[in-house]
Amino acid sequence: MTFLRNLCQRTLATNLRAYSVKAIIKKPPKILITGGLGQLGVECAKYLRRKYGQENVILSDIIQPSAEVVNDGPYIFADILDFKGLQKIVVDHRVDWLIHFSALLSAIGEQNVPLAVRVNIEGMHNVIELAKQYKLRIFVPSTIGAFGPDSPRNPTPNITVQRPRTIYGVSKVHAELLGEYYYHKFGLDFRCLRFPGVISSDPPGGGTTDYAIAIFHDILRKGHYQCYLKPDTRLPMMHVKDALQALSNFLEAPNELLNRRVYNVTSMSFTPEELAEKIIKYVPEFNITYQPDSRQDIADSWPQVFDDSEARRDWNWQPSVDLDNLVELMIKEVKEKIAANDC
Ligand code: SER
Repeated sequence: MTFLRNLCQRTLATNLRAYSVKAIIKKPPKILITGGLGQLGVECAKYLRRKYGQENVILSDIIQPSAEVVNDGPYIFADILDFKGLQKIVVDHRVDWLIHFSALLSAIGEQNVPLAVRVNIEGMHNVIELAKQYKLRIFVPSTIGAFGPDSPRNPTPNITVQRPRTIYGVSKVHAELLGEYYYHKFGLDFRCLRFPGVISSDPPGGGTTDYAIAIFHDILRKGHYQCYLKPDTRLPMMHVKDALQALSNFLEAPNELLNRRVYNVTSMSFTPEELAEKIIKYVPEFNITYQPDSRQDIADSWPQVFDDSEARRDWNWQPSVDLDNLVELMIKEVKEKIAANDC
């Protein structure tokens, strides 16, 4: 009798242990990233693969990938304008989360408005419907470009007037509203962060804030930079490390913490002149000239300082890279990139 009771207790304890281990080790999400060869995709895939496993993060685009990209993990063809093709990918790979990066940025969008409408707006229609059908969690980045000259610029709060004057901005306001609508109407787990200019060592990708990337490449290669914005143009910015940290924390935040589906995030604000002053410490002999072009009008309609207090309050957003760290990181990373390309 005692033997039987002990056996039962042992079996129960083992079962309970097995159960609690199962409860702790949650299956990692299977993540599909669209627009994977744009400004954020490759770094984002690396970051999330470290977190969720190499095979669980699928990078996709319509562009031929480099050997380096293919060696890093799964890469597939996905055209966001082909709804059936997207359905097949979600089914074949059993996708749980969709990170939708495909978009034409502000300056490049102005050069080809019909293409920006197709990629940024029609593409968004496809992925949001896809996410609804397959009950995916969907992340779509928005931007400081979703504001316009009628918005308060210093600081720009989470909720305020949004009347952007670029097709990029218009498409992002459309994405924000559509996502919120699908959340309220269908319970879709839509999540969106409004990023400031994101700075990484990858070459510039057609954005207005990209002077803050181009300046490092030109100064380290040629010793001078011609800036297309005026020296005192203040814009909100963040290093890609902070952007990925924000994205990842926000994607994991429990729904109960979120008072909104769309949040402002930022790390700092600076002008070309202030950035150049910091770079001089590393490259004393460089020269910068200013020749503003049409991108100046875009920058003049955007926030100067971004208020991200709601993200800090609701899901504990905290940037870690300030202007000094950013310059130090970029000098190192761009030098490495240049050395690798020259090999
Ligand atoms: N980096 C973007 C742009 O300048 C802003 O989100 O277009």
